[in-house]
Amino acid sequence: MATKPKGPVYRCSNCAHIEPKWLGRCPECGQWNTLRESAQAQGRPDRAGETFPLPIASIDPGQGTRLPSGLAEMDRVLGGGLMRGSVTLIGGEPGIGKSTLLLQLCARAGTAGRILYVSGEESPAQIRMRADRLGALRDTIEVFCSCDLDLVRSTLDALKPSIAVIDSIQTLRAEEAGSVPGTANQIKYCAQELSAWAKAHDSALILVAHVTKEGAIAGPKAAEHLVDAVLSFEQGEGDMRVLRASKNRFGSAEEVGIFRMGEAGLEEVADPSGLFLVRREGGSLPVGAAVAPVHEGSRVLLVEIQALTVSAKAGITRVYSERIETGRVSRIAAILEKHTGLRFSDQDIYVNVAGGMRLTEPGIDLALACALFSARSDVALPANTALAGELSLAGELRPVRQMRRRAKAAAALGFSRLLGPPEVAGEGGKAKAKAGGSEFREAAAWAEASDIKSALKALFGK
Ligand code: TYD
Ligand code: MG
Repeated sequence: MATKPKGPVYRCSNCAHIEPKWLGRCPECGQWNTLRESAQAQGRPDRAGETFPLPIASIDPGQGTRLPSGLAEMDRVLGGGLMRGSVTLIGGEPGIGKSTLLLQLCARAGTAGRILYVSGEESPAQIRMRADRLGALRDTIEVFCSCDLDLVRSTLDALKPSIAVIDSIQTLRAEEAGSVPGTANQIKYCAQELSAWAKAHDSALILVAHVTKEGAIAGPKAAEHLVDAVLSFEQGEGDMRVLRASKNRFGSAEEVGIFRMGEAGLEEVADPSGLFLVRREGGSLPVGAAVAPVHEGSRVLLVEIQALTVSAKAGITRVYSERIETGRVSRIAAILEKHTGLRFSDQDIYVNVAGGMRLTEPGIDLALACALFSARSDVALPANTALAGELSLAGELRPVRQMRRRAKAAAALGFSRLLGPPEVAGEGGKAKAKAGGSEFREAAAWAEASDIKSALKALFGK
């Protein structure tokens, strides 16, 4: 929609038609005396529907269009690009690569408008040097180094960028919210003000937030409910970085984006399916290792779960597990103890995921159980088998979604067998129908087990 003059507009109380001038009769529906004065936020016609209600069919769908970020992995996590008029918060530990990621985004984003990169942490020269290294010297990008919310806001007003990055929200300070930057109050206030600006101007706003390892800083948390999407940029093993969403108003919060930090910034990893597998001479698995195809958003990745158990010294046992929730490790150990008789309650348990991937998917239960069992019994798992399935407290293997895709992904990486729960009616019907087709042959053979005992029997014999 083209811009309309600022100031009041006149809206028909019958059909919601908007006129710039008062008229006695609505030209749209022909009713008399129905045009009423209506304040319009910032003079923008596309704020109609926010300052007053609109009939659903008369809303301009162009209001919610997305801007591709230029980074396919980022778009994947966001659900198709940055939404105009939205605010995205990106959290991560200092040094993880947030500034690098966003400068690359500024350089690659497809936008007709300008891009403003606000930094409260680095000097213009430092940013220029980084941009040199990243090949990000685009003349659409303007850099502004300031910690003052008022100055940032007037710069936004002057420039009207289509994308604005604030690096970081913790360095911004507003007079109205007390004198110390970085407090929860300041962060909330600044996030709220900037978010109002972004919405009024249909810009995509990205806020950077530093988060410590414990995620202990209350500040960025306070801003989470004010924004449309919350992403975290996490450390994988070595140069690997994982971007994931914990909140996404405009898409799923399940997708992960995978990058590697290199000499010239972050490289996207388009096919990470085998990235988290460990390749070994001879191809056998060591004791305590198990492989699971995990469903991360729309992709299946194969991951290796590693477990180690040692007798606890002082009668107090502990679970050390950073990548899989410790409560879950304890639960799986308890299920094993109950249903196999192997003792875990006097053991310290260490669990790791190769490649540093954080796993939350229910489908890893079986692989976790088998890794623990292997570690405790000192027998390695067969290397040709990948494992998938959720475990109930009764020791039953529960179905997980997309077994077929998991079997395919496992086959692509050299696993001939996928051990998992029996097929359920829905997915099973399809699978059976395709049993003679090429899709089936490309997949690892699906071996069924109904509970943890029969799964272990299928793996270890008796
Ligand atoms: P940075 O983006 O400054 O992290 P954050 O903004 O999250 O604090 O990234 C800093 C690290 O990334 C630093 O250790 C150097 C490294 N790096 C590279 O390895 N390659 C590069 O091309 C760039 C720009 C940075
Ligand atoms: Mg930074």
